[in-house]
Amino acid sequence: KVLAGYQGTALIEKKLSQKLGIARCIVLPGNADKQHGVIDSFGRRLNQLLGSILPEGKSIVSVTGGTTMARVAQNLSSNLSKNRKLLFLPARGGLGESVMIQANSVCAEMALKTHGQYRALYLPEDISAESFESLQKESSIKSVLDLIYKSNVVIHSIGTASIMADRRNLSPEEKMNVLDSNAVSEAFGDFFDQRGRLVYKVPRIGLHVRDLDKIKYVIAIAGGQKKADAIKSYMNNAPTHTVLITDEGASELILRDN
Ligand code: G3H
Repeated sequence: KVLAGYQGTALIEKKLSQKLGIARCIVLPGNADKQHGVIDSFGRRLNQLLGSILPEGKSIVSVTGGTTMARVAQNLSSNLSKNRKLLFLPARGGLGESVMIQANSVCAEMALKTHGQYRALYLPEDISAESFESLQKESSIKSVLDLIYKSNVVIHSIGTASIMADRRNLSPEEKMNVLDSNAVSEAFGDFFDQRGRLVYKVPRIGLHVRDLDKIKYVIAIAGGQKKADAIKSYMNNAPTHTVLITDEGASELILRDN
């Protein structure tokens, strides 16, 4: 079903922001589950949005990984660097994604497309929580972490818990814990249930959802009908200044449910 022009879209965006309890929603045509180009349109819309909110001069943009973010990155453009010096950083390190969709690769691609710069966080996988504690104090890692906390904007996606439990390199016990706790959504390695309660945390370093309150702009990007439940679950706990870029496929389902 095609939305009835700008006014129809504006109304849907308003209703969706109210329902999700966040500052703003941008709803783009289509359903990302079925139309590949929808994620590209998220990227182009993100480019416009960043162009309108980022100040001139230096800006730090932190990003998460995933298939959505990897595709979004390809649609940013160099006009963003006009009068700006952009630095892209991975919001979290070592989340066990395959290389192409790691936050490190997403920020490298965004830097390439916008003619900005990037720094990577190279962290080993599958090491103990104690080792992560000491790694955070390493100067090469600490310098990136310090910059991440100074981000002007954080851009992230929202994952479906069952899919992310597979992708995050969890042990069989951890995976069972996540699924037994009725997790529905995942963002930044944090898993949330239907009501937005944090039910599991992957012990990794970098930004956590709780840190987002201190970041001026937070942009979430997720679309497709299959992500509707995950978006609803995550937004129960999201900072209220979050801006969501999504599609008709997800928004129609979210608005339909009570
Ligand atoms: O944390 C959320 C995930 O990175 C989302 O990944 O875009 O591949 O669904 P996805």
